[in-house]
Formats: sequence, structure tokens, C-alpha cells
Amino acid sequence: MRGQFITFEGIDGSGKSTQLRMLAGELRQRSVDVITTREPGGTPLGRRLREAFLETEETVAPIAELLLFAADRAQHVEFLVKPALGEGRVVISDRFADATFAYQGAGRGFPEATVNQIIELATGGMKPDLTLFFDISVENALKRMRSRSETGERINRMDVETADFYTNVRSAYLAIAEREPMRFRIIDANGSVAEIQAAVVEIITKFLGKTSAL
Ligand code: ADP
Ligand code: TYD
Repeated sequence: MRGQFITFEGIDGSGKSTQLRMLAGELRQRSVDVITTREPGGTPLGRRLREAFLETEETVAPIAELLLFAADRAQHVEFLVKPALGEGRVVISDRFADATFAYQGAGRGFPEATVNQIIELATGGMKPDLTLFFDISVENALKRMRSRSETGERINRMDVETADFYTNVRSAYLAIAEREPMRFRIIDANGSVAEIQAAVVEIITKFLGKTSAL
């Protein structure tokens, strides 16, 4: 039986990577066969691409950025996501195609039709079974990003965007959530790590409970 594909989305600093790690630990304790991954950088090629176009100070043309996120995704779908789902595993990815819609579409201003076409090419139409959107105010996210850079955690080119940029990205995510209410769950990500974790575990337990994964 095909596994389940779950994605975590949110603006930078929404706390989704922290929650993804904690959820994976919780599911493993419950003997769920779970694999965690991320975009960009879920495969060896993806990690090299990530370093080359994201963890760099070189100016990257917006169209190159759009195509590189898509290239990373194509490799990820083909060699990690599809095989793991074929083995019946639960795949949880820190970001997927919705991020391109939000960041390159609303953030960088590429037309929706162009973005959709490129996403379709990269994914072959594959969609997550469930997407959690970690909804944090732009103000709180910027605060967290600032403290992240002060504590010396790795930052990238996208961590230095303006409040307006993140406001547009957040609105784009909320628009997808409205369009696809069956796939999307919105989680208030302004609270404490423990509060958010409780909400995540509740949603995931309910979701996987309807499948044979739990
Ligand atoms: P994302 O992956 O969404 O960018 P992270 O999980 O890396 O977010 O969290 C961003 C920063 O905020 C990190 O320094 C992390 O330790 C901190 N953080 C995560 N969750 C919370 C929370 N609920 N409250 C306060 N700080 C948090
Ligand atoms: P990452 O360090 O993984 O950030 P975070 O932990 O906040 O998710 O960096 C990924 C960055 O790339 C993040 O700013 C979002 C951006 N991004 C896009 O712009 N488009 C995309 O399609 C994807 C997958 C990510």
C-alpha cells in the first residue's frame, strides 16, 4: 500500500523544522515507519544545489532561482519521495511545491500560470496527502529569525527578505489553504513549542489513524 506524504509549510522562522523533528521522534516511538526530508536539499544533488544557489552571497537571477528549486524538487520526487511512498512509508517533508507558489509566485512576482507549469513539470502532478501550514505573524517570525542569526544558526539568502515580502508569502499560503481545505490544516504557530506540538500531534494522529500507518 502507498505510504502517506505530509508536508510542513510556513514562512521562515515559523518553527516548522523544530516541530518536524519532534513529530518524527514521536511517531518513531509509536513504531511508525517515517522518513523526514526537506526542500531544497533532500537528496545529494539537492544538497549541492542548495549550497550553490541558496547558501551563497552571489546574486541569483529570479528565474534561475525558480528553475533551481524545481530541479531540486524533480530529483527529490524521483529518488526519495516516490520510492519511500512505494515502500509504504510516511514521508514528512520540510517544504514542497506550495513553497514555490508562495515564494516565487507571490514573493518574487512570477505569474501563477508560469509557476504552476514549472511545479507540474517537476512533480509530475504529485501532491501531498496532508499539508500543515504553520501560521505565524510576520512580526514574530522576523523576531525569531533575528535571534536565530544572533545565536549563529545558519542563515540563507531568503532569511534577509523584508516584512512586505513575507506578508505576501503568508497571504499566498493562506490562499492555497482556502482553495484546498481538505489538504491543508492551519496551525497557530505564535505559541510555545509545547503548545504547537500538541496541535501537530493531534492532527497527525487523527490523519494517520484513518490510514494503516498508525
Ligand atoms: P523554520 O524551520 O520554520 O524556519 P525553526 O524551527 O528553524 O523554523 O525555528 C526558527 C527559530 O525559532 C529557531 O531558532 C527555533 O529554535 C526558534 N523557535 C522554534 N519554535 C519556537 C517557538 N514556538 N517559540 C519560540 N521560538 C521558537
Ligand atoms: P531553509 O533553510 O530550509 O529554511 P526554513 O528552515 O525556514 O524552511 O531555506 C529554504 C528557503 O528557501 C526558505 O527561505 C524558503 C525558500 N524556498 C523557496 O523560495 N521556494 C521553494 O520552492 C522552496 C522549497 C523554498
